[in-house]
Amino acid sequence: MAALELLGCLIAVVSIWMFASAHRQHAQLTEVPTFSNAHHRQQQRQHVLYVDDKIYRGEEISDMIRGALSFPSDHQLRFRPGSLAISSVETVQHCYVDMNLYKEHFDQLFAVQVSVSEKYKVIYRNIPKSASSSSRKVMQDYFDGKDTRMKHYQLNAYVLKQNYTLISFIRDPLDRFYSSYDEAFLRMGPWWGSESVAKEKPALYKHYISNKHKVARYPYLYEGMKTIDDFRKAYCPKNLLEQKDGHLQCVESDTIDDSSLTRRFEQFVQDYDGSKPFDNHLRLQVPFLVYNFRSNGAPLPVSAIYNASEANAGWRTIAGEKGVIIPNDGMSHGRKSSRRFNVDLVSDVTKRKICQILALDYCCLNLELPDVCKSADKDSEVYCSLEQKTVKDQKGEQYDKVVIQSHRSYS
Ligand SMILES: *[C@@H]1O[C@H](CO)[C@@H](O)[C@H](O)[C@H]1NC(C)=O
Ligand SMILES: *[C@@H]1O[C@H](CO)[C@@H](O)[C@H](O)[C@H]1NC(C)=O
Repeated sequence: MAALELLGCLIAVVSIWMFASAHRQHAQLTEVPTFSNAHHRQQQRQHVLYVDDKIYRGEEISDMIRGALSFPSDHQLRFRPGSLAISSVETVQHCYVDMNLYKEHFDQLFAVQVSVSEKYKVIYRNIPKSASSSSRKVMQDYFDGKDTRMKHYQLNAYVLKQNYTLISFIRDPLDRFYSSYDEAFLRMGPWWGSESVAKEKPALYKHYISNKHKVARYPYLYEGMKTIDDFRKAYCPKNLLEQKDGHLQCVESDTIDDSSLTRRFEQFVQDYDGSKPFDNHLRLQVPFLVYNFRSNGAPLPVSAIYNASEANAGWRTIAGEKGVIIPNDGMSHGRKSSRRFNVDLVSDVTKRKICQILALDYCCLNLELPDVCKSADKDSEVYCSLEQKTVKDQKGEQYDKVVIQSHRSYS
């Protein structure tokens, strides 16, 4: 097992990852003014490991992760999200996911959902709201991909023994959260519990009935809304709704939300502690890249992670490597939809709370916080740490591992 994991790490290290290197360059550029001047930097390199009081430099943390610097085993070393000099692929291999806290961000099933191409030896792991519908379509149209579920040992064997490439796409966490909420809100509206839905769309009805207790803790979300038309009136221009099938164009037109929907969103963010998403679309991204509690949160053997905001470019890179031809007009541009609540009205306080909710993704995907979430008061900012923990491997054997953990300032 240890040998398999080591091989997994090696694959992660050597994997080609354009997204990471672009991101790294960006991080280096912004680091100088934020952290220190050049002279000071040089001194730090020679004498001290941390940037300022108790915040460590990403370079040193990265060296420790790679074993080039020894880790002081009784310490918890604090560092900033996105400051590491390693890729997201490598970062996620060292991520510690608290299985109690994040339990509801996982399927409780044995197998993970993927799209597999036997022909080109590619496995795509989908993460909802991160270019997943367009990616599944690319897999289907150009890679002979098939949707399936794979047990952990199967997925590991494909990647580690048969040299399959396991890829995924991740998206800017804050931007994704807005989309996640928007979709979750639509899916969990009380209109799905109506008699006509029960008759005409029994699967949607059943989904709603079995999950509605999760949304019941936020009673203000659907206040004054009984039907889907009540909801549409809050975001869709009147002239569209008056046309036949005009509601289909609502998502392409800018929202008319005058803050009624945004206020509900902000109240939800204030009340939500991030542990019990009321819909699957609100699950974080990292939980899709590690196995669930049945394998003690061990990382998937991911080979490469691409930027979901540039999904077409990512797919062209993958196609190029695998000898697949995608015609110039061969990819859809995702479902381009504007959001139903008015994102422009979201306050900075709300954005900072969202960053807290998303701490795991920022730390374990090595993504920088948005400026609005960088705080002068470092105790109210999301932070990451490197620490040694006794963890269990996929078979339940305990061992000591130096892991990355995310921290939020609220409890
Ligand atoms: C992903 O691509 C978007 C759009 O080009 C860009 O703004 C963003 O910074 C990229 N994300 C990362 C982590 O590089
Ligand atoms: C594994 O796949 C990569 C490309 O995806 C290829 O370069 C390499 O030769 C393959 N290795 C083996 C042992 O098949």
